[in-house]
Amino acid sequence: MNTFYITTPIYYANSLPHLGHLYTMIVADTVARHKRQQGIETFFLTGTDEHGINIERAAERAGRTPQQQADYVVSYYKKMTAAFGLDAAHGGYDIFMRTTEPFHYQGVTEFWRRVAKAKTPRGNDAIYKGHYEGWFCAACAAYKTEDEYVKPDDSAAPPRCLIHETPLDRISEESYFFRLSDYDEALLKLYESRSDFVQPDVRNNEVKSFVSGGLQDLSISRLKSSVSWGIPVPDDPAHTMYVWFDALINYITAIGFGNLEREQAVGFEKFWPGLHLVGKDILRFHAVYWPSFLMAAGVEQPRHVVAHGMWVDSTGRKMSKTLGNTIELDVLERFFSTDAIRYFCLREMVFGQDGRFSYEGLIDRANSDLASGLGNLSSRTLTMIGRYCQGVVPSGKISEEKLLLAKRTGVDTDETTIAGFIEHARDQFLQHFDNFAFSRALEVAWSVVARIDKMISDAKPWDLAKDENQRQTLNAVLYRSAEALRWLCVLLYPVMPQTTQDIYAQLGLSESLRTTNPAQLKWGGLNENTKIGEVKPLFPRMDKAKTLEEIRKGAEPSGVHATEAAVAESEVSKMTTPAPPMQEATEADAAAPVAGVTTFIEIGDFAKVDLRVGEVLSAERLPKSDKLLLMKIDIGEQAPRQVLAGIAEYYEPEKLVGRKVVVVANLKSRKLRGHESQGMVVAASIGEQGRPVIATFTEDVPNGARLK
Ligand code: MSP
Repeated sequence: MNTFYITTPIYYANSLPHLGHLYTMIVADTVARHKRQQGIETFFLTGTDEHGINIERAAERAGRTPQQQADYVVSYYKKMTAAFGLDAAHGGYDIFMRTTEPFHYQGVTEFWRRVAKAKTPRGNDAIYKGHYEGWFCAACAAYKTEDEYVKPDDSAAPPRCLIHETPLDRISEESYFFRLSDYDEALLKLYESRSDFVQPDVRNNEVKSFVSGGLQDLSISRLKSSVSWGIPVPDDPAHTMYVWFDALINYITAIGFGNLEREQAVGFEKFWPGLHLVGKDILRFHAVYWPSFLMAAGVEQPRHVVAHGMWVDSTGRKMSKTLGNTIELDVLERFFSTDAIRYFCLREMVFGQDGRFSYEGLIDRANSDLASGLGNLSSRTLTMIGRYCQGVVPSGKISEEKLLLAKRTGVDTDETTIAGFIEHARDQFLQHFDNFAFSRALEVAWSVVARIDKMISDAKPWDLAKDENQRQTLNAVLYRSAEALRWLCVLLYPVMPQTTQDIYAQLGLSESLRTTNPAQLKWGGLNENTKIGEVKPLFPRMDKAKTLEEIRKGAEPSGVHATEAAVAESEVSKMTTPAPPMQEATEADAAAPVAGVTTFIEIGDFAKVDLRVGEVLSAERLPKSDKLLLMKIDIGEQAPRQVLAGIAEYYEPEKLVGRKVVVVANLKSRKLRGHESQGMVVAASIGEQGRPVIATFTEDVPNGARLK
């Protein structure tokens, strides 16, 4: 059967998404639309990974149940996917998978049972019970070997994860193991026999060399007493499943593995095997662990595991919450059209390699490739058809007797030249698309834009229009550009679904591009006499300096304010005691930044202030207060601190979650609006108004590290 199944990773439900998460969804959505255009029945999955210690802890710190925590993050994902046209209502994903769905529990239980009964390729039991002793990183949800952590100077302190720099958990408990060590040869055979199983090649080589180095058995359960937020191990409720074991299986439970209702609604038999699109950060789980689990369960291997690179910032650092360099989705949504973002992501990132993201780059491409490129080609073609042809697509044919006249203008009288060029471009475009080389495919499409633009500029239709004898030449030029535009719409629909459909409507065409197959395009398919629609601007030019300034202002909000503690206190004092005279407050606030340092302290005085690195675990507005935020901040202690700060006018609470801040840890706790505040977040106080700008780090730092 002609079906296709594509998946994104299911994202952890402990923090809110950023551009990195959006990117994988955009790529998957583009591929799904491309397949649908070819008449292939397609199923597209995205969703959230909701179990495990990481979510359990995030929930605990935020004062939520794990389910509430997951629901909160999912509601944001749903809002975001709708805003970016990726949800089912916009023709995007077919399922937003959640691992807390009962049908998933059912399928995972069935899968475990199958694996538990299986023998490895070397004839041993695939699952056995043992004792795990080692280090575990909650943030990675992975056990760490010696080369994956750093040992701190203080030998009593636990090692820290190389990726997150957070302390690892020492696990010493009974555990079920998956006998991964018996699967190396079988895996190597799989990679050998299917050289495109892992893509691109560079990742395939990485995976092969990892497996060639030998594999260690994998602990796949935790005691329920240590991690209760997980799927129980069948017939042994004292254990919960390792979160990756449960999460990977989502790809098949979503479509019906182990559940009749889902099987009938979607169809495991119909859609499996699927293609997994993942970031290179989680390749090992998908290209090593997952295939081994599937072998054990006797389930067919995925079609492909395709890994893309990471988005990095302008200085080459990976985009992450910890570094505070994430591209926030609400900023993107506010300033850019979805299609411009989709185009930029696919054009800018050479698939498989890391890509550099900057708003500047996005604005440049939106202006040059979209406004001046495709948008301009569309509007000049349609405007000229309106002006010179009464809004009706003219004939593209030049009769025998007019050929010589046409030739004199330099216009190619042989229509097949341009037709051949475009057909060839289409074939190349589709080939690149099928190889995930979106950037190259788009380059090819833009070579068509350039060619048609040049044809128009060379032919000068505005001059041809002055000579009635050149009417056929003029018509031919305009027909060719309109026809090329039609082809571009069909090709580019998966990348820019909205704009291409808009151009199509302006061309007077009403069919849905969703089901128009680019492989079947024939030159001349645009009927003469088609009445064009209303010509509307597609990609307004962006004022770069102004937009960048507005984005910057949005990120660092301005307005009347003082430092957090002062405001927090003044807000309380307004309620409890008479407000101090305005004069006093203004003078005190304004003096600090302009007067310079006047009094000096001893180093010992400074040492009295215990400044610690903290991570904001949750932040919410205090009811009935427009200034105060209540935050839970992890400063490396047993329990997070509750800190109130008067920054609610300047910072969206959701955006602070995951951010590293500096906390005055030995400030006497006090009550603000009935809530205890156990510390203070350090912020710069900007301008006469004392606008707070929270201090942060540009490098990874562990929670609890002291500032000296
Ligand atoms: N829950 C696991 C996946 C389980 S799949 C069975 C997980 N979740 S995650 O929330 O950490 O998502 C990781 C994925 O998000 C990456 O593989 C990638 O798809 C996307 N990205 C997150 N940050 C990214 C960048 N900076 N750049 C590009 N993609 C990124 O791992």
